[in-house]
Amino acid sequence: MIFGRVKSLDAILATAKKKSLHRSLGAFQLTMLGVGAIIGTGIFVLTAEAAQKAGPGMMVSFIIAACVCGVAAFCYAEMAAMVPVSGSAYTYSYAVMGELIAWMVGWALILEYAVAASAVSVGWSGYVVGLLEHLTGTHFSPSLIAFTKGPFNGGIINLPAAFIALVITLLLIRGTKESATVSAVLVAIKITALSLFVALAIPAMKMENFHPFAPLGFSGISAAAASIFFAYVGFDAVSTAAEETKNPQRNMPIGLVGSLAICTIFYMLVSAGVIGGVGAQPILDANGHGLATGSHQLTAACAAIHDSKVVCSNEALAWTLRKVGWTKIGNLIALAAGFALPSVILMMIFGQTRIFFVMSRDGLLPEFFAKVHSRFQTPYVVTIMTGVFVAVFSAFFPVGILADISNAGTLFAFSMVAVAVLVLRRTDPKRHRPFKTPVIYLISPLAALGCLYLFVSLPLMTLVMFFGWAFIGLIVYFCYGYRHSNIARNIADPED
Ligand code: ALA
Repeated sequence: MIFGRVKSLDAILATAKKKSLHRSLGAFQLTMLGVGAIIGTGIFVLTAEAAQKAGPGMMVSFIIAACVCGVAAFCYAEMAAMVPVSGSAYTYSYAVMGELIAWMVGWALILEYAVAASAVSVGWSGYVVGLLEHLTGTHFSPSLIAFTKGPFNGGIINLPAAFIALVITLLLIRGTKESATVSAVLVAIKITALSLFVALAIPAMKMENFHPFAPLGFSGISAAAASIFFAYVGFDAVSTAAEETKNPQRNMPIGLVGSLAICTIFYMLVSAGVIGGVGAQPILDANGHGLATGSHQLTAACAAIHDSKVVCSNEALAWTLRKVGWTKIGNLIALAAGFALPSVILMMIFGQTRIFFVMSRDGLLPEFFAKVHSRFQTPYVVTIMTGVFVAVFSAFFPVGILADISNAGTLFAFSMVAVAVLVLRRTDPKRHRPFKTPVIYLISPLAALGCLYLFVSLPLMTLVMFFGWAFIGLIVYFCYGYRHSNIARNIADPED
């Protein structure tokens, strides 16, 4: 029976014991780790998408998404502390719900990591192209612009996005890891950029810009919450650091809630600055419906008004500051995004290669995938594959569509973790849990339902793509993994 193909938790833990890490992180470092992993394209770019979906009501969307992330993060942390091995949601599902679900989660994680990396690459491209135009004081000719945007946005190919994805891939093949110092500098750059934005945009706020607050009703707010969920992705970095955390039962909740709370406060202030500073009303069609983000119609409508609304901007924060008279600081914000966003791409592609690596080690993907480079000692085959995938998607798709697809995969994976953690409490109540989710019978169902709510609030097209992707995943599993997995062949895990 296929659901009986469960990987033993003890075998997984035996692997973890061999490479257990030093417990060194306190509550503060954990919180900063979270803030560093979370802030990225979401707030810098997707604020424009959220405005198109919800108008000023996007402030509520930020809170809704944060609440879902909060409850999901607690479940994730219990699992991560108990099963501290690479592969995250994929590995937990393998131990609790069996191989088929684990495969589907791993398959969905490709969306979470690789497609998210594409989204961030497109976000980076928007800021860098905008900055270059401002610094050189020229408007690039339409024929040049066509090579900086994908076909959905009225261009041909987004070359800068593909370029940054490939550069990061090369760095990863050479074995570049972000050092603690570089991460700390990048966190400081991001926090400074957002603080500067808030300090300059809030005084320029006009209260009338907040009316109407929810022009597209609560469904608009839900749709924006589902998209803006992307702005919080990365909080799982805190959960997965459970093994390295001192006194996890105390510090984990502080790190999780602390990093989510800091980001939520920033996001609220930043969105208030955008709304109050330049207005954030969506562009509607003749029937009063919001035009879909990433659609040709919206691109055409924006072209007709010379991109004079924030919902048309690829660099929402820099655009807003320039509009309220802070041109140079707007450029500085763009520069900060140009520096900081590549580290998010690096983390995402790195995460993806490690998931592929573990799946290949489990026999669900060909062994060839896990090949390590003789000189650089990195899994170069999966890194090249991931890099090419990320580059191609970033070259042709708009940031909003990519972020939504990534969210679908992430929400699926998180809901599975929420279920797994509860199942394991019942089936294996005595197992040592360094961190226990408080009021699990409330938090776990809330997390699963919250993920489901955001999932169904995504655009229909995204859901169709998600299920199409899942269907392809099932075919791949039955053609390959079903027969080749270590469990199917009854072989023990290779030694690490
Ligand atoms: N939260 C990350 C970002 O917004 C993924 O870029």
